[in-house]
Amino acid sequence: MSFDVAADAYDRFMGRYSVLLAPQLADLAGIEAGQRVLDVGCGPGALTAVLVGRLGASSVTAVDPSEPFVAAARARNPGVDVLRASAEDLPFPDGSFDATLAQLVVHFMADPVAGLAEMARVTRADGVVAACVWDHGGHQGPLRIFWQAARELDPAVDDESHLPGVREGHLGELLAAAGLHDIEEATLTSSLEHPSFEEWWEPFTRGVGPAGSFVAGLDAGQQAQLRERCRSLLPVSPFVVTATAWAARGRA
Ligand SMILES: C[S@@+](CC[C@H](N)C(=O)[O-])C[C@H]1O[C@@H](n2cnc3c(N)ncnc32)[C@H](O)[C@@H]1O
Repeated sequence: MSFDVAADAYDRFMGRYSVLLAPQLADLAGIEAGQRVLDVGCGPGALTAVLVGRLGASSVTAVDPSEPFVAAARARNPGVDVLRASAEDLPFPDGSFDATLAQLVVHFMADPVAGLAEMARVTRADGVVAACVWDHGGHQGPLRIFWQAARELDPAVDDESHLPGVREGHLGELLAAAGLHDIEEATLTSSLEHPSFEEWWEPFTRGVGPAGSFVAGLDAGQQAQLRERCRSLLPVSPFVVTATAWAARGRA
């Protein structure tokens, strides 16, 4: 699994962008004191920490299928119940939570409709299910320069642009197919300044996610070619990467 990696590698690769989305997704979900909330696909805990800040650790539960991420999320969020589980098979009774969230997870689910339906099952009636996914379909995610260079190297590369939920409107369609109602869609944005090209590039070499797996499958010459093409496509340092995510919320 491309998420069976050290939490530190994830932080440097994607966590640096996902921490910027977390407060926005919590706002979209209407998270407020007194609620019990589940974070699905928590990773090392970017969204989990925001939920703890708003609700307190004892009101937050988190799950992820990656063992190193579960360990990191537990260590970083003492008092949160963090379990190893997938969205499609959540180990909770019906109606356990006021809100269930999944940040940057739906496109990695084996069965997104089943995963979202399971999130709805564990959410109380009229509670909120909310999710967000990068706009890989519109090439507005944080990895767009990387995938542009990768497509030039290998036109057949799987650049995440065809994954579920990553094109405009599809996340809402998936929530509807999962049986949610009163669906609202939104866009979230994150802007991050990169001090140097090397700081931007190095995390791609750590095997995280589809991009990291792609780099790991290249020989040294191809990696150098990809790296230098990325360098030529990016602005002079320091530069800002601004990324858009599709988001949607519905009621169980
Ligand atoms: C891009 S990371 C997002 C992590 C975290 N939510 C964040 O925003 O930083 C995707 C996460 O989804 C998890 N994941 C993959 N398939 C999953 C599934 N079927 N159910 C739940 N989580 C899944 C991965 O292990 C990984 O932690």
